[in-house]
This record gives sequence, C-alpha cells and structure tokens, in this order.
Amino acid sequence: DKPLLSQCYNLMDFESVAKNVMKKTAWGYYSSAADDEITMRENHEAFHRIWFRPKILVDVKTVDFSTTMLGTKVNMPFYVTATALGKLGHPEGEVVLTRAAHKHNVVQMIPTLASCSFDEIVDARQGDQVQWLQLYVNADRAITERIVRHAEARGCKGLFITVDAPQLGRREKDMRSKFVGQGSNVQSGQDTDTSQGAARAISSFIDPSLSWADIPWFRSITKMPIVLKGVQRVEDVVKAVECGIQGVVLSNHGGRQLDFAPSAVEVLAETMPVLRSMGLENKIEVFVDGGVRRATDILKALCLGAKGVGIGRPFLYAMSAYGFDGVDRSMQLLRDELEMGMRLIGCTSIDQLNPSLIDTRNLGSH
Ligand code: FNR
Repeated sequence: DKPLLSQCYNLMDFESVAKNVMKKTAWGYYSSAADDEITMRENHEAFHRIWFRPKILVDVKTVDFSTTMLGTKVNMPFYVTATALGKLGHPEGEVVLTRAAHKHNVVQMIPTLASCSFDEIVDARQGDQVQWLQLYVNADRAITERIVRHAEARGCKGLFITVDAPQLGRREKDMRSKFVGQGSNVQSGQDTDTSQGAARAISSFIDPSLSWADIPWFRSITKMPIVLKGVQRVEDVVKAVECGIQGVVLSNHGGRQLDFAPSAVEVLAETMPVLRSMGLENKIEVFVDGGVRRATDILKALCLGAKGVGIGRPFLYAMSAYGFDGVDRSMQLLRDELEMGMRLIGCTSIDQLNPSLIDTRNLGSH
C-alpha cells in the first residue's frame, strides 16, 4: 500500500514512494551514484546557495514559459533526459516517458541503453512530438554510424554524445545489489559480467579512446545538431564552440561518474560570463542537468543563462511508483510550480529571465 497519487505534492515525494515499492536491484541502479555520492548530493544542494532578487509590481496575470531548444518549440524549459533501463522500474519502460512528454509537449532524450528498442520508443511518438538521441559511442564505429543514421532517418532532432563516461563510475549500491540482467535489450553480442552491478554489465562496449579528433567524423555522418553531454569546465565549452558543436549539457551524469565533479550550476555560473566576454553566448545552446527537483531550480538555471534543463531520476521514480499517471502528475506539478515561480519573481516570459534576478554570492562557498 502506497500513498494516493494525489498525495504526492512535489518531485521528492515520488522518490520516497519509489524507494518503498521498487525492487531492491532497480532502486539500487536508479538511486546510486559514484563512490561517496558527494557530487550527487552537491547537485541538489548547489541550487540552495542561489537566491532570488524578485521584482514587484509587475503585471503577471498571464505567464508563458514556453521556449525553444535546438529549434524545437516546447511548453516548458525542461526535457526528459536519457536514463538507461526503464523496464527496471516499469514493465513498459521508456515509452511511458514518451507518452508523458507528448502530453506536456517537452522533449524526450532516448538513451542508447534503453530497455525498449529504439524503434519502439520512436513508434510511441505522437503527432509532431520531438525526440533526441543520447549516444554512447561504440568502439566499433560502424555500429555507431548505423545507430546515428538510423536515428536521423527516424526523425530524431538532436544527437547528444555522452562524453563523461569513458569508463562507468563505481556505484557501490548498485554493485552490492548484484543486478541479474533482466529488463535490458541493449547492444547485443557482449559478454556481461553482472557481478559489478547493472551499469558495468551493459556498458563494456563504450569506447574510452573517444576524443575531440572524432568530432568532425560525427559532423560528416549526420545533419542533426550535435550536443556534448557531460561537459564539466568552461574551457571545454569554448572548445566545443570552436569545433562547431551546437550545444553542451553541463552535467556530471547525476553524480554517477566522477565523484567531486562540480555541480552543473557551478559550471554554468563560470561559463556564461566567459562566453559573453568572448561574444560566443549565441553560438551554442547551454543545457544543464543534475539535481533539478523544483521549478525554482529550473528558473535559477535559466537566470544564469541555460537554455533548458534535463531531469532524470524524478521521472524514473514517478514512473516506477505510478506509471504514466505518476510522470504526468510530476510534470503537472512542475508546471504549477513554474507558473507560481515566474509570478513571484516578476517575470511573464522566459526571455525575461536574467542574472539580475538571482544572487549567486554564496554559490562558490560550499
Ligand atoms: C543516467 N544518466 C545517463 N546518461 C547518459 O548519457 N546515458 C545513460 O545511459 C544514462 N543512464 C542513466 C541511468 C540512471 C538510472 C540515471 C539516474 C542517470 C544520466 C542522466 O542523463 C542525467 O545526467 C542525470 O540523471 C541528471 O541528474 P538527476 O536529474 O537524475 O539528478
């Protein structure tokens, strides 16, 4: 017996329900992070060091938080980021997220390591719904090329290359729960050693030799906008612009890779002033993910200059606990929070969000 869905009032509530109803292995895989999980904790806490400087007496009767990401018009400034193994949490897997993303007109990023096949997730798309592909680069580039070309042919509108995982981080909670291999239809033909946890078992194909020198090759095989997911310092954002990359996701993979990697908002705060001083702020779209749980987190990131934010675990937990209805409600809660947050800081549209609306003086002090 779990609480009624209507008793979930925020995204954190889904996490507590999920913890109680999920299988131990699934919970271990979704909730774990690297080593001592300091970065995962910091991802959320960093938002707590940013305060608003709200404007008063602005007519906020009507607020609109639609925006664009990589040329796609979306209703809200967040997207469903790629998270592997959706069927660990729900028998239908990632297509549940597809349906909710459609209902709220936000983008879904399809993971390479989805439980559903790529085509099932694309087939679940409705109307002119937009999806992006998250790519783990295979050491066998012919496989990678096939995946990328297929995604473009099937209408994906963005290629997010994960660059923070040349080797999967140690997630000890996951390792301890001795994942047994169910629920994943991943790139076949690999021997999986499940004693190291779910993550390690399915990721042995990822190429640790991937480098900047490979970027022109990706450019040559696709017309999709290319985004690097997992950028962690401003120098690499600048390098991405120089390589003709269309976007970056400042991210530490939800704290699942390098423990003591900085939170995305910290990196964002150092990145945007540098891009502005170099006149590059309109040359690249900057996204962030990690620890986003409240609309106020989203608004803070946008004030700092992010184009949008990715949300991972909360949607997995909502799906695991309540299926489609849970994800639907979690997005509705964010919608309500966004509306209220925009009104209370005195903004009626996303383009009005700017650094003068936040106080980041404490951001650097941990
Ligand atoms: C992830 N993430 C991830 N990223 C990626 O590029 N490829 C992947 O296969 C996965 N898989 C994955 C599984 C699970 C269970 C989690 C929690 C995360 C990272 C994800 O895209 C994103 O960076 C973080 O989830 C964002 O942090 P929050 O929102 O979970 O705090």
